Amino acid sequence: MTTNRQFNLKRRPEGAPVADDFALEGAPLPKLADGQFLIRNHYASLDPAMRGWMSDADSYMPPIPLGAPVRASTIGIVEDSRAEGFAKGQWVMGLNAIEDYSVGTLGGFTQPIDPDAVPSVTNYLSLFGAVGMTAYFGLLDVCEPKAGDVLLVSGAAGAVGSLVGQIGKIKGCTVIGIAGGAEKCARLTARYGFDHAIDYRGKDRAALDAAIRALAPDGVDVIFENVGGDILDAGLNNLRHGARIGLCGLISEYNAPGPVGARNLWQLIVHRASIRGLLVADFVPRFAEGAVQLGAWAAEGRLIVDEHIDEGLDNALPAFMRLFEGSNQGKMILKIA
Ligand SMILES: NC(=O)c1ccc[n+]([C@@H]2O[C@H](COP(=O)([O-])OP(=O)(O)OC[C@H]3O[C@@H](n4cnc5c(N)ncnc54)[C@H](OP(=O)(O)O)[C@@H]3O)[C@@H](O)[C@H]2O)c1
Repeated sequence: MTTNRQFNLKRRPEGAPVADDFALEGAPLPKLADGQFLIRNHYASLDPAMRGWMSDADSYMPPIPLGAPVRASTIGIVEDSRAEGFAKGQWVMGLNAIEDYSVGTLGGFTQPIDPDAVPSVTNYLSLFGAVGMTAYFGLLDVCEPKAGDVLLVSGAAGAVGSLVGQIGKIKGCTVIGIAGGAEKCARLTARYGFDHAIDYRGKDRAALDAAIRALAPDGVDVIFENVGGDILDAGLNNLRHGARIGLCGLISEYNAPGPVGARNLWQLIVHRASIRGLLVADFVPRFAEGAVQLGAWAAEGRLIVDEHIDEGLDNALPAFMRLFEGSNQGKMILKIA
């Protein structure tokens, strides 16, 4: 291939991203300098966080520049190299972009991976990638669940949420998951072993509040929050004394046209509860520790990992939008090569 097809950000989305915000464009293949290597991207991770990177609001990372390919974690194979330790044919993973080819730099974020060490190389984007590490460290380090705790997980049938609930079960919690639709709720209990599931669709804040109270009349000890909005508000209304809330994501708010905010924060005072934002990047130095434990649980059959793989760079936008429509069944991945 002589052209590098890139899924470029042309305009900052207002509300839900639309086709005119992006363009699939060709660029010449990048030339390598000393210390660089050329990666043929095979898979890109599609993450809700990318919606934030498309915006120029203040964040933990600079916005994707207009005209540049959309930033994403990718895995691929080194096709050419001027960097020691990155030989042709080596599989690598790094924070690159949705494009055929990316350039890695010695000492940068892109690291070698071993496809023979895992059931599928895509597991580096699910269980052993940011998703698995978010679930593992976000739940265990930030929320500190104890055996017997009631754990409430929103976005529960998704990539992070499904792992959080399963880890909660391994740790002896009673796990309640909130997800959209009867099919996903059935998956929570039948496939992932959650104790209870709540279908949030068609429920307003009061109905959500009542549904949580019916399953946890004494309140919840831990909330792993992926969604925000009414779902977070309903959780806040059902806290037990000393509850811990790990604020992982606010997906219901990412495409909101204006500011949104939790309305029941008073309950944190009533119940001496804490809420803590978490960012998976803070745990990078401990990823190896997380990978060993997650890999062991998966090998023992105690952790089910689902991946939803769509194909083709021209499907990048519809595949990404599945995250907001809820039509992904597991970790959302785009197959590029
Ligand atoms: N803080 C960190 O370091 C970190 C790292 C990774 C991910 N995250 C966050 O974790 C959350 C989950 O990410 P993921 O990668 O695992 O995605 P995911 O859960 O696999 O996919 C997103 C899911 O969110 C649900 N959703 C979308 N819009 C919603 C809405 N308006 N109301 C309620 N639910 C909605 C949908 O499920 P339903 O069908 O159930 O609606 C959808 O399938 C996101 O908030 C993400 O930003 C944070």
